[in-house]
Formats: sequence, C-alpha cells, structure tokens
Amino acid sequence: MFDNVYKNKTVLVTGDTGFKGSWLAIWLKELGANVIGYSLESKTENDNYVICGLGNKIIHIDGDIRNYQSLKSMFDKYEPDIIFHLAAQPLVLEGYHNPAETYSTNIMGTVNILEVVRNIDSVKTVVIVTTDKCYENRECENGYHETDRLGGKDPYSASKAACEIVINSYIQSYFNNNSTASIASARAGNIIGGGDWAENRIVPDCIRSLRKNETIKIRNPKSVRPWQYILEPLSGYLKLGALLYKYGEKYSGAWNFGPKEVITVKDLVENVIDKWGHGEITILEPSDQNVESSYLRLDISKAIAGLKWEPKLCISESVKYTIDQYKVEDLSQDEVFQQRVKYINDYCKI
Ligand SMILES: NC(=O)c1ccc[n+]([C@@H]2O[C@H](COP(=O)([O-])OP(=O)(O)OC[C@H]3O[C@@H](n4cnc5c(N)ncnc54)[C@H](O)[C@@H]3O)[C@@H](O)[C@H]2O)c1
Repeated sequence: MFDNVYKNKTVLVTGDTGFKGSWLAIWLKELGANVIGYSLESKTENDNYVICGLGNKIIHIDGDIRNYQSLKSMFDKYEPDIIFHLAAQPLVLEGYHNPAETYSTNIMGTVNILEVVRNIDSVKTVVIVTTDKCYENRECENGYHETDRLGGKDPYSASKAACEIVINSYIQSYFNNNSTASIASARAGNIIGGGDWAENRIVPDCIRSLRKNETIKIRNPKSVRPWQYILEPLSGYLKLGALLYKYGEKYSGAWNFGPKEVITVKDLVENVIDKWGHGEITILEPSDQNVESSYLRLDISKAIAGLKWEPKLCISESVKYTIDQYKVEDLSQDEVFQQRVKYINDYCKI
C-alpha cells in the first residue's frame, strides 16, 4: 500500500503516545517503516500506546515539542526521511483552561518542527496535522474548503489556525522551488476509535459511563460534527505523505479529510448505545460558557480529486468498529496490538 513508500524509511511520528499518533505508528510499522516517536509520556494506563505495548515496538523518545534543542538532537541522531507531526494540546475545553500552554505547544511546536527541517537535509516530507476547527466558523452547511478563511473563537481552534498560517509562511518562504523538503497540512474532523481516553470527548465519555452503568450525559444534542473512524483520516495522511514523498511540492499545502456523512451528538450517542448493547442518555442544559460551534463539516473534494482518497465507512460501521475495539482492551498488550493490526489489514481490504 501507499506505493511501498514507507518501507525501510525512517519515519518520525510526534505525539506517538497519543490516540492518533499511536495508531499511525502501528500502521507505519506494519508498512515496514523504522518508526521513531517523540512526545510526552502517555497520560493514563488505558492509553492506546500503553495497552498495545507500543513502547517495546518502536523507538520512543520522551521530549517536549517546545524544546528546540531536544528536538534537534533527536533529528541529528535518527535523520528521519518523513515526519508526521501530531503532538499537540488537542482539546477545546483544555484550551479554555490553559490558553498560553495551548498556544505555546501547538504554535511553537509546529515552528520548532519546521525550523529543524529547514536546518537539516535528511527530511523530504512533512505532514502536519491541524484540525477542521481551523476555519472561521460561519455555521456553514456546505462544508469548508481549504481556501476558506481561517479563524477560531476558542484558544485551541485559534492555535491551529495560527499553525496553518505558520505552515503556509514556511512553505512560501523556504519550502518551494525544488527545496529538499515538501510540507503539507492535514485538516480532519472528530476522530473515533479504540484507545482514546481523552477527557470531554464524546465517545470516551460514553464508554466511561457505560462501563460504570451510569447514564450518558450530553449537552448540545443537536450539534453536528464530522465524526470519522480513526483509520479513515490516517489513510489520508499516509496517502498524502506518500505522494509528497514521491512528487514533492505538487502536493504541498492544506488538505481536508472528512467523513461520508455528518450526524448530531444525540445520533452518535444513540449509535454507541446500540453497538454497546445497553445504556441511557440524559440531556443537560447547554452551558453558555466555553462555546463550541454547533455545525461543522468539511468539503473533501480536493482530497478525492487530488489524492484519490475517500472515506470508506458509514457512521454505523465506524461506531461498530470503535466499540468493538474498546471491548477488547483488557487483553494482553500483544493481543491488543495484534487486534489493532487486524483492524488495519481489514480496513485496507475494504
Ligand atoms: N482526536 C481528534 O478527534 C482530533 C481531531 C482533529 C485534529 N486532531 C489533532 O490530531 C493530533 C493528535 O490528536 P490526539 O487526539 O491523538 O491527541 P492526544 O491527546 O491523544 O495526543 C497528543 C499527543 O501530543 C503529545 N504532546 C502534547 N503536548 C506535547 C508537548 N508539549 N511536547 C511533546 N508532545 C506533546 C502527547 O504526549 C500525545 O502524544 C493533534 O494535533 C490534534 O489537534 C485530533
């Protein structure tokens, strides 16, 4: 898959201890890459990185993305060919509580990656993961295009919009006209899949309640989001990385990755309950603080036409795979790892 681009390449995944980074590291390992991970330590014993025993399967370095010297030493030592930058403070609510840390991690982390790449010859390809929330939200029902105006009312969204501006300025200033490296950004929506235990994310919150036989409390049941199964955007990132590696700056710039369909919070939770087997919902009064947009979807026609990438699963299948993955997390590390690999192989056959 991916034209064998990743086989025997040294691929750096920042944020490998996180939800998406750990799945990406597993997939890259299966593709034959020599995977290097760089991030803070995992937060809980339930994290995908821990329950898969990923620390024994890749080279992992504990480090802060804001520490340029530590990052540069790691690049000098391992000389990665390809980078997927996912390390970030990724939560809207945490962004409201700790805006300065959110800005420094997300913006300066991205600047540091680009600075090291600018000062080293080994790297050919960089995919930087931002978010669908980088757009100025106009509650637009048609979906945002990559050329739409950036924005963000809350600190997390604004930090990611700022990353996009930083990335574009580095591309325009240093990574065009046959430079050694090509850079792209990937904007995806809300991701679901096993091993995500982040606070205040709807599916992890549901699983926590279901495991304790408590009712699932939701605010804003009518909010609409582009939820997608973990392997859908990751397949897009890998395809983008492979094309960037082979053809260079023709593929640089921003790319949206979204699902086939968008649904409301309430529909998603009902789907989770259906696949789990039982459960109840309580609808809470919406809070007027810490506002999130109520309607968010992406236009993915650029990725469909330009990368020949498209989402494969409907929301019901996505939720089914996700719930099945949460249900096996008590197995041994090797068994969970093998189970994750099986999901990746099955997905590739669809
Ligand atoms: N999960 C989603 O639904 C979603 C949606 C859109 C975009 N994203 C983006 O995808 C990326 C990964 O998100 P995730 O859901 O896996 O998050 P996560 O919280 O599970 O993982 C974040 C990772 O970043 C690392 N990290 C955080 N601060 C760091 C620092 N200062 N130095 C080094 N490493 C640091 C953590 O150690 C962890 O490995 C983020 O950039 C996020 O903004 C996620």
